[in-house]
Amino acid sequence: MVEVTSHEFSVQSDKVAIAQAFSKAAARYDQHAAFQRDVGLRLLDKLPEQLNGWRILDLGCGTGYCSQILQSRGATVVCVDLSLAMLQQAYQRCGTARMAYLQADGEVLPFASSVFDVVFSSLALQWCENLATPLQEIYRVLKPTGRVCLSTLLEGSLVELQQSWLKVDSYQHVNRFTSLNQIKIALAQADYQQIHLDLSAITVWYESAVSLMRDLKGIGANHVPGRAQGLTRRHTLAQVEQAYQLFRNHQGLLPATYQVCLGVLHR
Ligand SMILES: C[S@@+](CC[C@H](N)C(=O)[O-])C[C@H]1O[C@@H](n2cnc3c(N)ncnc32)[C@H](O)[C@@H]1O
Repeated sequence: MVEVTSHEFSVQSDKVAIAQAFSKAAARYDQHAAFQRDVGLRLLDKLPEQLNGWRILDLGCGTGYCSQILQSRGATVVCVDLSLAMLQQAYQRCGTARMAYLQADGEVLPFASSVFDVVFSSLALQWCENLATPLQEIYRVLKPTGRVCLSTLLEGSLVELQQSWLKVDSYQHVNRFTSLNQIKIALAQADYQQIHLDLSAITVWYESAVSLMRDLKGIGANHVPGRAQGLTRRHTLAQVEQAYQLFRNHQGLLPATYQVCLGVLHR
């Protein structure tokens, strides 16, 4: 059985729903997470190759793809996630050598201050309502010489899907992503000394809009805060598919564009 420590985390209903959506997806996550691996690898490139003796928190570790690479480079890794099922996948992938697993919320980290050399967090912080809160918590748990490597999605991500849904109904089907300005405001509320942000657009190509939506559901990113969840009717999906055709390129593929922010912040 998996050795995961559970820490009581704030039970806001959206947090529970987010954790449930990711838990439901955990077993199939890796089959749908090519984009997440790509972003994770770009973020790992921001760290030295040799991490012997480093103590790293992987915040929102998911199934532990990045945690395992950090482990293989010599680091001691503490995996934290809201979702227990995700942590169980991470445990199966990485085992126990220099690894620990904890169910907790990135907004209320259950650690003493100044204990990590690095907080690594890939594509998890966009699930927090106000980025300023986890950024301050991360600052607190970092050693004075520590740094955070984070990736998150910005406004304009999945714009094609959003525009296609708008032609079908007026509900919110795609998550709202934070603006660069909101990130800067959140950063201003913490005390980081050096801040490097890299922004890039990454396009993933699909044969159909349904296959994009299958990937989003497959990784558990289908919870849209504030919207009642339910089955989407086949007829409605066909309408979205039709609207998405507007974006088809000459090779017959449909783009899903992500606006990605990679950040390295030194405490
Ligand atoms: C898109 S997955 C990314 C997982 C992994 N970092 C990767 O790159 O494959 C987002 C993860 O963040 C976790 N998560 C979301 N909100 C969180 C929070 N407030 N605290 C901790 N983990 C959170 C989810 O449960 C999920 O496992």
